Amino acid sequence: MITGASSGIGKRLAIDLAARGAIVAGCGRSIARLKETLKEVRRTSPSSTMIGCDVSDAEQVQGMVAKIIADFGKVDVLINNAGIGMRKPFIETDLRTIENIIRINYLGAVYCTHEVLPSMIARGAGHIVNLSSGAGLIGTVNMAAYCGSKFALNGWSESLYHELKPLGINVSIICPGPVETEFARDFRDSKPKAPPNLTVSADTVANAVTKVLENKRFEIVLPRWLAFMSSLRRHLPNLFRALAQRRFRNYVVLPAKSSGDGDGK
Ligand SMILES: NC(=O)c1ccc[n+]([C@@H]2O[C@H](COP(=O)([O-])OP(=O)(O)OC[C@H]3O[C@@H](n4cnc5c(N)ncnc54)[C@H](OP(=O)(O)O)[C@@H]3O)[C@@H](O)[C@H]2O)c1
Repeated sequence: MITGASSGIGKRLAIDLAARGAIVAGCGRSIARLKETLKEVRRTSPSSTMIGCDVSDAEQVQGMVAKIIADFGKVDVLINNAGIGMRKPFIETDLRTIENIIRINYLGAVYCTHEVLPSMIARGAGHIVNLSSGAGLIGTVNMAAYCGSKFALNGWSESLYHELKPLGINVSIICPGPVETEFARDFRDSKPKAPPNLTVSADTVANAVTKVLENKRFEIVLPRWLAFMSSLRRHLPNLFRALAQRRFRNYVVLPAKSSGDGDGK
């Protein structure tokens, strides 16, 4: 089961996993785009399906998982991939936007996992992969709401890892830097822009997911440069924060000068 299969990483994953023999049940809100994914997925996996579902709505998620279990009997792998992004100073971000991000990026994964888990526990097997982000490891300026949702996802995932491992169920998180998808369509030009050496392709991320399904690692951070930065933050937090502050300070919105998305100089 893959959430957010109508675009980007989720679509790539649906096609790749179907080609590797999986029956894929994908979801998203855009029925037209789900149909496009389904067309490609069914070339190699004729039983696969796509279901219209907003993961931020617990009732819709209940209905979707009940249908998947009724049709296929079980979910072996749940990939919580659906997500939205933003890049805006916190003080300029309205509460509705913040709530929406938390509902989709964090609670969406919670709802799907809550529905799928009982059948995994009953079988003593399963794997839950959560599509997090480098923004779930490092707090980034102008992304407070997004970072909050991904830090929540990571803490929740680590907790679940310990709870579920003894029951035979694996939990993994994938933390990529910026990925070239439609994700940033509304804020691609806002600052600070993503450094190119932190960027990865949707294919690389999809390969990382396939890899954790085999090696059962808890965490993969991509690319290597981001993994290094995340490790630096863990081991030398004060040094890392001082360096990050120098990089970010031009983008902070000052009360007297609130136009500011900074000039980056
Ligand atoms: N692209 C990046 O720079 C980047 C970097 C790090 C991590 N990530 C993470 O990777 C994941 C996938 O992102 P992407 O880059 O593939 O973005 P994308 O191309 O915009 O795809 C996002 C997917 O999530 C679905 N989605 C969004 N809201 C949903 C909702 N309420 N209910 C159900 N589905 C929903 C979208 O489908 P509908 O619109 O049809 O609902 C779409 O299929 C996200 O969790 C994101 O946070 C992305």
